[in-house]
Amino acid sequence: MSITARVLILSSDESLRDEAKLAFESLGEDSPRFRFVGNANQLFDVLRNQPIDLVLAEFSENPRDITSLVRQIHATVPSTRVAAILRPEGFSENVNESAVLIDSMRGGVCDFLRRPLSTVDLERLLKTGTPADDRRLPGTRNQLGRVVSFVSNKGGVGKSTLATNTGVAIARRGKQSVLLIDGSIQMGVAAALLDLTPNATLTDLARESERLDPTMIRQTAAVHSSGLHLLAAPADAVEAMEIDDVLMARIITMARQTYDLVIVDTFPMFDRVVIAALDLSDRVYVVLENVVPTLLGGVKLLSVLERIGYPAKRQSIILNRQQRVAGSLSINDVADRMQREIDHVLPFDKRVMAAANCGVPVAMALLRFSGFSRALEKLADDVAGLIGDNSSRLELDELPLGVTNASPAIGQTANASRADDSWEEAR
Ligand SMILES: Nc1ncnc2c1ncn2[C@@H]1O[C@H](COP(=O)(O)OP(=O)(O)O)[C@@H](O)[C@H]1O
Ligand SMILES: [Mg+2]
Repeated sequence: MSITARVLILSSDESLRDEAKLAFESLGEDSPRFRFVGNANQLFDVLRNQPIDLVLAEFSENPRDITSLVRQIHATVPSTRVAAILRPEGFSENVNESAVLIDSMRGGVCDFLRRPLSTVDLERLLKTGTPADDRRLPGTRNQLGRVVSFVSNKGGVGKSTLATNTGVAIARRGKQSVLLIDGSIQMGVAAALLDLTPNATLTDLARESERLDPTMIRQTAAVHSSGLHLLAAPADAVEAMEIDDVLMARIITMARQTYDLVIVDTFPMFDRVVIAALDLSDRVYVVLENVVPTLLGGVKLLSVLERIGYPAKRQSIILNRQQRVAGSLSINDVADRMQREIDHVLPFDKRVMAAANCGVPVAMALLRFSGFSRALEKLADDVAGLIGDNSSRLELDELPLGVTNASPAIGQTANASRADDSWEEAR
């Protein structure tokens, strides 16, 4: 790193201070300048006056305090990253650790560190970031990328087809970097749809989870000729068992630090991995077919989404494989049954299946006169439009699924003393 990074460590634990010094010392030349602050007031005092790359904050007794802290830090300096340090004693018994970890990633924590702090973990975190004085280094983004998921209550409705083709359509425009995560982890088909033979899959990331960072995600992703990157699903159901919700949340959190857009294909079941993906999604695309049983299930799915914290305004409804044949439901019928407007209609087109069979997504061919391609481009415009559109950005007080109801701001802790001006260097 050409410019020395600056790290602030928020903790009142003296032993953490020694640990951090030791770990930073071993970084040699890459050791950052670091400084300890004992409370949030001191932290903000420094943040307001000096460029800080990374804040390491210990989870307080109430693990939800961290989301409140992150919100305040980002309101003060949006580009400063915050990583959370897990307490050596862990969380108390009545706290669901994975829910807390995912929730804090949702709240903006970029990663977690375990005690004792290790040089490897710190190096990984520092490598990821861009020094606050020079934010134009390639490979990292100042603004986090957007995340969208494709979901349905039933298989075979076209989630994978649409997730893949949307990714290809946006990537081939060449304006935004796009990652497709095949979150249909037990039977992912995205690699086949793209005719890719990935060297590595999500399982490899699970096995390297200690070293996981945005660079590793880029290196693991297979690259399609359209420019789309793919994190492929595990090779089989046994390998899929290595993927858990916290890993999925970490992967998405890191991916959005380096891609403009992250698209997640899912499996029609709300297991913890899918919920972790939804939890981090700015928008959920619900894929339906105009078949009555599917629609009945779809109504239930919308109500479940609503109950777990996804208001209608963050859902988009897609009617796929639409056909006008005798006895079939019209688009208006579908909207009536769903009690919702249909945002996108993609017609049934045999060429979509043919494209799937030969591994060349329809979006590569751009059949100019095809209704499917036109509708797909419209869907791609919609998804791409989320990038840079702050109105659709999830706010912290709208956390979905969240355990969180952010507790009183840590930054307003009483008895604040001003931070002293001492920076430490391990070298
Ligand atoms: N608009 C469409 N027209 C024709 N066939 C389609 C369309 N969308 C998807 N398909 C086909 O439907 C099947 C299921 O699609 P897929 O994307 O695998 O569904 P899911 O991921 O929801 O299980 C595939 O054979 C796919 O080629
Ligand atoms: Mg699928």
